[in-house]
Amino acid sequence: MKIPIFRTIEQNEYLMESIMKKIEDVFRTDAFVLGPVVEKFELKFAQIIGSKHAVGVGSGTDAFLLSLRLLDLQPENQVIIPVFGFVSIAMAVLRVGATPVFIDVDPLTGLMDLSKVEDAITENTRAIMPVHLYGKAMNMNSLMEIARKHNLAVIEDCTQATGAQFHGRKLGTYGITGCFSFSPNSNLGGIGDGGMVITEVDEYAVRLRKFRDHGHADEIYHDEIGYNSHLDAIQAAVLTLKLEDLEDSNAERIENARFYNERFGDLNAVLPEITDNISHVFNLYTIQVAQRDAMNIYLKEKKVGCGIYYPIPLHMQPCFDFLGYKEGDFPQAEQLSKRVISLPVFPGLKRQEIQYVTQSVRDFLSS
Ligand SMILES: Cc1ncc(COP(=O)(O)O)c(C=O)c1O
Repeated sequence: MKIPIFRTIEQNEYLMESIMKKIEDVFRTDAFVLGPVVEKFELKFAQIIGSKHAVGVGSGTDAFLLSLRLLDLQPENQVIIPVFGFVSIAMAVLRVGATPVFIDVDPLTGLMDLSKVEDAITENTRAIMPVHLYGKAMNMNSLMEIARKHNLAVIEDCTQATGAQFHGRKLGTYGITGCFSFSPNSNLGGIGDGGMVITEVDEYAVRLRKFRDHGHADEIYHDEIGYNSHLDAIQAAVLTLKLEDLEDSNAERIENARFYNERFGDLNAVLPEITDNISHVFNLYTIQVAQRDAMNIYLKEKKVGCGIYYPIPLHMQPCFDFLGYKEGDFPQAEQLSKRVISLPVFPGLKRQEIQYVTQSVRDFLSS
C-alpha cells in the first residue's frame, strides 16, 4: 500500500466532469481574471463564512500582504506573530516595511502562546496575527481581549482553517480581516494558487479591491500603490463547486482524526485535541513524538506519506537572521520543530488505508 500525505487528484476526481464544464464556461466568457465567476464565488464564500465582504486575491500570502496594507504601517511599526509556522506571514510583514515580532507557542498545540503576547507589546506594536495552525482555532476571545485592551488590529491567518469555528463563530470574522489560502493542499484547495480576504468593514473592502488591482481608483486614475493579485476565474469556478462540500469534507477530516486519536491513546505521543464543535478542521493531523526523525524514515519506508510542519522555527530561518534572534530564544517552538509529524487525514482516505497508517504508527511507537 502507498498512501500520500495529500491526495489532490482523487479529491478532485469526483468533481472532474463538473470542473471541466465550468472551465469550458469560463473559456467562453472571456473574463479570465476577476469578473462574474469570481464575484459569484466571493458572494458564496462570504455567505458561508458569515462575513460581509470577501475579496478574492492571488494567494494566501497576498491575503496577508493586502490586509497589512490596510494599516498603513510605518518602518518602526511591529506586528506580533507566532514563531512556529510558515514563513510567508513574516515575509508579508517585512514586505509592507514593518517588523515581525515573534512569540513562542503553546507546547501542546503549537498555537501562539497568549500569555506571552502582552510582554511583547511596545508603543510601536500595531497588530497581532494569530495563526490557526493545522486548522485549529486560537482562543479568539482571549486574543481579542488583549487586542482591544492595547488598541491593536487583528489579522487572522486562516490559511489552514477554512470553515473552522471558535465558540460557534467562524474563524476570519474576529479580526479586521481573515486571510484564506486556496493552495491545492488546503482544506479548500483550488487547482492552482488563490486566496481570499474577508472583512466586515466596507471601507476595507474597497481598499482591498484596489490593492489587488494595481490601486485603480477609477478607469484612469490610480490612488494607491497596488499589486497584480487577482483570483482567476478558473480557480473561482472550481472553488465554487468545492465550497459546496466544505462542511462534509471538514467533517470527514475530523472523523479521520478521531479514528487515529482513538487508536493512539496508549502510545507515547502528544495527540491533537478533538472537541465536539468544529474548532479544529484538521487541515493537518499532527502528533508529537520523541523519535520523530526515526519515525519519519520508518513511515516513508512503509510508504506512508507524512510531513513535517515545520522543521525550523521562523527565528532560525536564515532569511530572518537580520532580525537578530538566536537559537534558544523560543524553546517551545524549537522543541516542537523536532517532535511534530503530520499523517494523512484527507477526505477520501479509505478504511484500509487509515488502518494501515494506524498500524504502521503503532508498530513504530510500540517497538
Ligand atoms: C500557515 C500557512 N500560512 C501561509 C500559507 C501561504 O498560502 P499561499 O500558498 O496561498 O500563499 C500557507 C499555505 O499553505 C500556510 O499553510
